[in-house]
Amino acid sequence: MSERPALTVARTVKDLRWQVFAWRAEGLRVGLVPTMGALHEGHLSLVRLALESADRVVVSLFVNPAQFAPTEDFASYPRGEDRDREMLAEAGCHLLYAPDATEIYPPGFSTTVTVGGVSAPLEGERRPQFFGGVATVVTKLFNQVAPDVAVFGEKDYQQLQVIRRLVRDLDLPVQIIGAPTRRAEDGLALSSRNAYLSADERVVAGKLNVIMAQMARSVAAGGAVITAEAMAADALRAAGFDSIDYIEVRHAEDLSTLGPGPIGDSPARVLAAVKIGKTRLIDNIAV
Ligand code: PAJ
Repeated sequence: MSERPALTVARTVKDLRWQVFAWRAEGLRVGLVPTMGALHEGHLSLVRLALESADRVVVSLFVNPAQFAPTEDFASYPRGEDRDREMLAEAGCHLLYAPDATEIYPPGFSTTVTVGGVSAPLEGERRPQFFGGVATVVTKLFNQVAPDVAVFGEKDYQQLQVIRRLVRDLDLPVQIIGAPTRRAEDGLALSSRNAYLSADERVVAGKLNVIMAQMARSVAAGGAVITAEAMAADALRAAGFDSIDYIEVRHAEDLSTLGPGPIGDSPARVLAAVKIGKTRLIDNIAV
């Protein structure tokens, strides 16, 4: 039996800081994994990765209203703190920071952190409020927890690049680690939102990664970007996806476009957002 630490829960910045300062006084390194709860194996893999570079790991759980548009699923976003807490204890997390909303957004809150450039395309175009909401809450979490290291998933690849940019631009004293995407057996990336899928929709959803992998292979073999994108969009429609927000090959660092032809030596990433029924799925893979 592996020894597992007791999981403390903090709901205020004051309680959180008291604990983190005590660890610091002992010379311990602190890691942070920000989440919105409804945890799955993907989140837990981030906790395990954080434990490799930190002595103590804080997981934050806050369903951040600022990153949802009024038409989106803030109200129905899956919530279940008791189950999350058990999973975190099992994974070796030391502290769950589940702040009351006023700890994040005190009355009169009026500040937004805006990251330009990499925030603009793809998700930025479809969800204009999203990265401002993410950058603001993540900046706050960094200031509240003051971690040495923070882990984010490649599952939300554009988000990861936005956070890297934010940290570089504002000299935030935290090391960012990107974690590989955890997937179900058929390749579907694990996501809290997969809970919205019916059994039939779940079968369709599994084809997204297969089509993206074909696309990545074709581009890696020297195929034209424009052809690979068109073929992938056709394949998605044929597979039963209801709509396609985007399926594109982009520069892997800043997510700029690469032109219609072969990618040459450019580091590239396939990124997609699609809908099945009311569920929106995003995914990405390296080329
Ligand atoms: P959430 O969607 O809960 O995701 C929390 C973290 O888990 C993110 O870094 C995300 O990329 C990672 N993650 C999700 N699914 C994963 C998977 N299948 N494999 C590996 N990692 C995965 O992303 C957010 O919350 C929020 O935007 C947040 C950063 C917490 C700010 O509110």
